[in-house]
Amino acid sequence: MCGIVGYAGKEDCVDLLIDGLQKLEYRGYDSAGIAVIQNSHIEVKKTKGRLADLVDKMETEGRLKGCCGIGHTRWATHGEPSDINSHPHGNERISIVHNGIIENYREIKEFLIEHGYSFESETDTETVLKLLDYYYKGDPIDAIAHVVKEIRGSYALGILFMDFPDRIFAVRKDSPLIIGIGENGNFIASDVPAILKYTRNYYLLEQNEIATLTEKGVDICDIHKNPVKKEIQVADWDLDAAEKGGYEHFMLKEINEQPTSIRTTISPRISDGMPYLEESGMTKEMLKSYSRIYIVACGTAMHAGLIGKYVIEKLAGIEVTVDIASEFRYRNPLITDKDLVILISQSGETADTLAALKLAKEKGATTMSIVNVKGASIARESDIVIYTHAGPEISVASTKAYAVQLSVMYLLAFELAYAKGAITKEECMRLTKELQNVPDKIQDILVLKERCQFIASRLVNAESLLYIGRGLDYALSMEGSLKLKEISYIHSESYAAGELKHGTISLVTEDMPVIAVATQSDLFEKTVSNIKEVKARGAKVTMICREGTVDDKAVANHLVTLPDMDDIMMPMLALVPMQYIAYYTAVLKGCDVDKPRNLAKSVTVE
Ligand code: AGP
Repeated sequence: MCGIVGYAGKEDCVDLLIDGLQKLEYRGYDSAGIAVIQNSHIEVKKTKGRLADLVDKMETEGRLKGCCGIGHTRWATHGEPSDINSHPHGNERISIVHNGIIENYREIKEFLIEHGYSFESETDTETVLKLLDYYYKGDPIDAIAHVVKEIRGSYALGILFMDFPDRIFAVRKDSPLIIGIGENGNFIASDVPAILKYTRNYYLLEQNEIATLTEKGVDICDIHKNPVKKEIQVADWDLDAAEKGGYEHFMLKEINEQPTSIRTTISPRISDGMPYLEESGMTKEMLKSYSRIYIVACGTAMHAGLIGKYVIEKLAGIEVTVDIASEFRYRNPLITDKDLVILISQSGETADTLAALKLAKEKGATTMSIVNVKGASIARESDIVIYTHAGPEISVASTKAYAVQLSVMYLLAFELAYAKGAITKEECMRLTKELQNVPDKIQDILVLKERCQFIASRLVNAESLLYIGRGLDYALSMEGSLKLKEISYIHSESYAAGELKHGTISLVTEDMPVIAVATQSDLFEKTVSNIKEVKARGAKVTMICREGTVDDKAVANHLVTLPDMDDIMMPMLALVPMQYIAYYTAVLKGCDVDKPRNLAKSVTVE
């Protein structure tokens, strides 16, 4: 996934482009570049490396200057990170930046080579540029319309035409792109944080709509040049939400924002002490009608779905299948129109999850999405959407988004169980109240950071770790393992504690630390036995459990204790030490916590 920006207006655009790219670096950061129309030429500066390297390059080679330009920060898909593969791609007539993947770029490239074109880069984007050039006969909209009819895949394109030095053009399909409406000019951007400093007002571009931006305004049309009217959206994020706010990393800030994020997500969905999801369009009658529920997502969002599975099955007695989106979309799932398919996605742009949504709709299922970004593709294409209100999650490693996804899973489980008559109103209110207590409990345990820092110091040199647990603890341990891997680059594996003895325990030595989650009362003793099994083989064990359930060194080498809550709610607390341990291990290793290598915030390609 990449970040693209663009500006057409009265002001010099270079600072605006760089600032916008800075807010989008979480989307991809292996190379960066800008193109500006300057003295009747398209001038380009681009480089492998971070945005800072691009700024340095301009300092040494001379800054660009102009009122019309486009910019790009890359997460490489086709072609390794390099100067030549970085965007913008262009020639003297046209320059483009692209986020997405062109699936049929090879056949288009062959066609263009047969028509005299040559290629310098390994990217699919250069193919789009040359196809635009091939069709351009003086009308940019015509050329763009021809191109979008031919290319297949996902794209958000920012385009400059030298013949039109006062405007930029944009078109998208399946990759996000918004049109910012400013006072002194107008913007294109992959995401809201890039424009927040200049405007809160923006348009959402639909599939294959073409936008023309000038200083004076924005015209949008379809590929047949029919004008399209747009409703202005207003960003409800505040500016500092997209800043670090004094924390060393966005991840630490977002861990600490969890109490607020959970409160703002659940409060509007609780009425008279009961869960209230009707505003999303999900009525109790609908909830009662589903015979099966599928939860489909990727990564951390999928882990939230796993917690949801345990809670829904336990309380509502409805079968829940959790699928990794990239598997779901190719395994021909046996979905019917009686099923509910829930898609969880922080960004709302994850390609595999979006594809799974489309498949579920084709099969007639009701689709409901849980999304953190207003107006994101997955939200717009679902029958029902429940927005989480975590605010912008900038760090690549998801924390507060996971916490609010869990909170919606709980509300859904409570409402579903009550609608099905599986729990009484009193029980539903008690559980809802317990959920409302979570933010304060999390606030109380944020002080665990010193303890977790100490534990991290014991893990930082490990080659590999095991995370173990049973039931909800096992589901949660998957998220802990992913957090550690993705930001500290230390291998780890989440394993069902009861399954260790069937093979994996052969890995356990004094060189393999184990993190054991033991918050479930009915499984506690069994998990303690599993802890003793690994300790007997030399493992140093960190145990995450309730206060007072074990005395210090009797069972584990390190203890992280949590305040008491209902068993079913304990994952909402245990997630904090999981996140802290991963964070401080990565910091101690000197890793780039917010922008881990090889990753991007949202994977909008397959
Ligand atoms: C989370 O820490 C990861 N960065 C990643 O697994 C992420 O959860 C996954 O890519 C799904 O993203 P989404 O929620 O935006 O769909």
